[in-house]
Amino acid sequence: MSEEALSIIDKRTQATYEIPICDGTIRAMDLRKIKTGPDDFGLMTYDPAFMNTSSCRSGITFIDGDKGILRYRGYPIEQLAGKCTFLEVAYLILFGELPTEPQLTEWVDQITHHTMLHETSKRFLEGFRWNAHPMGMLVSTVAALSTVYPEAKQVLDPDSRKLQIMRLIGKMPTIAAYTYRHTHGFPYIYPDNDLSYTENFMNMLWRMMEPKYQANPVIAKALDILFILHADHEQNCSANAMRAVASSQADPFLSIAAAAAALSGPLHGGANEEVLKMLDVIGSKSNIPAYIEKVKAGQFKLMGFGHRIYKNYDPRANVIKWAADSVFEVTGKNPKLEIALELERIALEDEYFIKRKLYPNVDFYSGIMYQAMGFSPEIFTVLFAIPRTAGWLAQWQEMITDPEQKIARPRQIYTGPMVRDFVPIEQRGVPAAV
Ligand SMILES: CC(C)(COP(=O)(O)OP(=O)(O)OC[C@H]1O[C@@H](n2cnc3c(N)ncnc32)[C@H](O)[C@@H]1OP(=O)(O)O)[C@@H](O)C(=O)NCCC(=O)NCCS
Repeated sequence: MSEEALSIIDKRTQATYEIPICDGTIRAMDLRKIKTGPDDFGLMTYDPAFMNTSSCRSGITFIDGDKGILRYRGYPIEQLAGKCTFLEVAYLILFGELPTEPQLTEWVDQITHHTMLHETSKRFLEGFRWNAHPMGMLVSTVAALSTVYPEAKQVLDPDSRKLQIMRLIGKMPTIAAYTYRHTHGFPYIYPDNDLSYTENFMNMLWRMMEPKYQANPVIAKALDILFILHADHEQNCSANAMRAVASSQADPFLSIAAAAAALSGPLHGGANEEVLKMLDVIGSKSNIPAYIEKVKAGQFKLMGFGHRIYKNYDPRANVIKWAADSVFEVTGKNPKLEIALELERIALEDEYFIKRKLYPNVDFYSGIMYQAMGFSPEIFTVLFAIPRTAGWLAQWQEMITDPEQKIARPRQIYTGPMVRDFVPIEQRGVPAAV
């Protein structure tokens, strides 16, 4: 028996069990042997929303939510944001080590040569209404790429996986930019291979009649930092969707579409858009106390606050705050920043937020930065999806190569009627109101 173990007495049978403890966890399957008799299925755990369940072993991202620590492959997020480019970090997340110079050159070259969309894929986008939400367009277009690359179904082939990874990281900014151009009725702009990842994204978004797009280096750098901050965040809702869908061996384009769909919700990546709407509703600093009272009364949540894992300041919010200064020097201060800072100050002194350990998360300040850079709120979550694609793909690779993983299939506690005889329609009477 392992030295670290849990002794359990089943008071139903008085039987005792030794359950090994490994890495601070017990294996849920070890509970199955706890039975009242041969016909008993065995004990299960009940954990709605995965509040206390590890679904995998992962070496990608480390978070200590109480201390406010975030590391990719062991490197603190602050160091990566200060010293790396996004593509360097994407390489680290995907392959486990920071690239050497030749490896980085080759990686950047490979991504740069996978940025174009098939012309027919551009036409998928044309079918959307002008006011379609960019996240809906992004999710659908990524899913549609599955039909363009049928060989992506070879998910057990490492070479095929690497090719799809390069395609997805390369094409995501192109799709994102085209959703924006579609909304504005502007012609789509082809990628420019002379530019960096973020400069090229800005080129595809904002180039008009000029023959060559000149990205503002401060904005391009700030966008790159924001991409680094959003690259991965361990087993969040969208990473879990990616792993769950891909566990059926669905191709990565369809799995990424599922992950992006999960990201779109206001409790996940959609929160940055909601923060801006909230700051608009608040309107001025003098309205903050009344707004906070309504939050405390349970009328609505303070968007951009709180986190399942962080019970301390989200370290990404701290990095955004220091990166914001350089952006505001170029763009001028976003007036919403004043409201946000005051909102944070008041909330962090309030017993309601202190007691529940509710701090600003990454979405609280990212939207203000994005808006200052010239993005409109509808595209904020798309800006989150671009870098998170690297994280989703790393989670996918890790899942598919983990011999312990199988198709994801949780159990349930059935609460419906056990067995009933069919009732013909004319004998059913008036049903209770649904
Ligand atoms: C992120 C989030 C979904 C985490 O949810 P969770 O881990 O399930 O936490 P809970 O909803 O159980 O919250 C615990 C308590 O704090 C409160 N709370 C959580 N976030 C809150 C917020 N943003 N504003 C006000 N109260 C909040 C809950 O109402 C609950 O209070 P109670 O104990 O009196 O019932 C949640 O904090 C939230 O909805 N935040 C706003 C959306 C957001 O910014 N999302 C981006 C995340 S990066």
